[in-house]
Amino acid sequence: MKESIAPHGGILVDRILRGAEREKWLKQAETFPSLLAFPVTRADLVCIATGIYSPLTGFLKEEDYRSVRDTMRLADGTVWSIPVTLPVPEDLASKVADSAYVTLRDEQGTILAVVKVDDLYRVNVEEEAEKVFQTADPNHPGVARLYQQSSLYLGGEIWLLNRPDQGEFAKYFYDPAETRRIFREKGWKKVVGFQTRNPVHRAHEYIQKAALETVDGLFLNPLVGATKADDIPADVRMRSYEVILEHYYPKERVFFGAFPAAMRYAGPREAILHAIARKNYGCTHFIVGRDHAGVGNYYGTYDAQKIFDHFTDEELGISPLFFEHSFYCKKCDGMASYKTCPHSPEHHVILSGTKVRAMLSKGETPPPEFSRPEVVRVLIEGLREKRREKV
Ligand code: ADX
Repeated sequence: MKESIAPHGGILVDRILRGAEREKWLKQAETFPSLLAFPVTRADLVCIATGIYSPLTGFLKEEDYRSVRDTMRLADGTVWSIPVTLPVPEDLASKVADSAYVTLRDEQGTILAVVKVDDLYRVNVEEEAEKVFQTADPNHPGVARLYQQSSLYLGGEIWLLNRPDQGEFAKYFYDPAETRRIFREKGWKKVVGFQTRNPVHRAHEYIQKAALETVDGLFLNPLVGATKADDIPADVRMRSYEVILEHYYPKERVFFGAFPAAMRYAGPREAILHAIARKNYGCTHFIVGRDHAGVGNYYGTYDAQKIFDHFTDEELGISPLFFEHSFYCKKCDGMASYKTCPHSPEHHVILSGTKVRAMLSKGETPPPEFSRPEVVRVLIEGLREKRREKV
């Protein structure tokens, strides 16, 4: 019997230094040029070091970068859809070029990691935007972030010395080695992973439970790395997940852990990355619904499903489970989708993310057909607290 699903590329990467080796490198790291690690870099560091981004062992070198950007594969042919890169501020370029290693630090100056200076290369950010995000529009949040960064990238292996401060999220993180052990202990052979950057609404719940009908367990794995300013903050969302799990999910069939990655809003390409990351966590299946990882009108509703056609089942190694746009239908008197519901749109309860966020911020309650009342209460209270903190 196969023990569990193989990590992407065959080996679960572990780039965390421990014990005497860590002490030695901490001392040496003091002598290397320092780079400030912004939130996306901090998230990428954790994902690389813990094996969530296996087989990556560092930030992409130029050959891999070009290959990923142009073909959605690493130079050796392994499927990889998003360039994971380390931009170097222009004023540090010559210092970095003259050194064998650089040290990544957080805003407090704490050493996080060492990066080997293997490859320093210049990229065309517009070209990256067009190919990865399918748009060069600076209004796209992922493209905007790309344009704010330096176009000089450092490629090289990393060694993690201190995990970035994960604050209150720390208790929700499980590394892939741990989730693999946990799924094994639970006796789950088929595990479906679920990505979200939103609270779990009825449509999410419906597709998760529809998937759960055919597998052994659900890994609810909401993203808590950097998101755009108008998404509901991750700390507010965490409580909402606990509440919905408590009231509406079978405890023995669901495992809940946070996904430390940052959101890129790259739609289809990000769906592939999300699937690979969940494969590394030990999932055998991954849910892709409507406009996965999308934003605005940049991607077609099902583009993030169609992109899976580019790859064979073997080279991807995790099975996507596709779901149509789902909603509550008053005539069906239950949850349904465009695939299963024969009724016309006036019977469907569909609210856009923007509309729901606006309602919640005003303390208004979206209908129970859209979101569970327990979830709504937690979100309204959480957003109210956020506003109080700001004043
Ligand atoms: S995402 O950026 O993390 O993909 P979101 O949290 O909205 O955004 O979606 C999480 C997952 O649920 C994605 O796979 C998405 O396609 C799916 N999804 C969200 N809403 C619906 C819906 N109404 N019907 C079907 N799938 C949906």
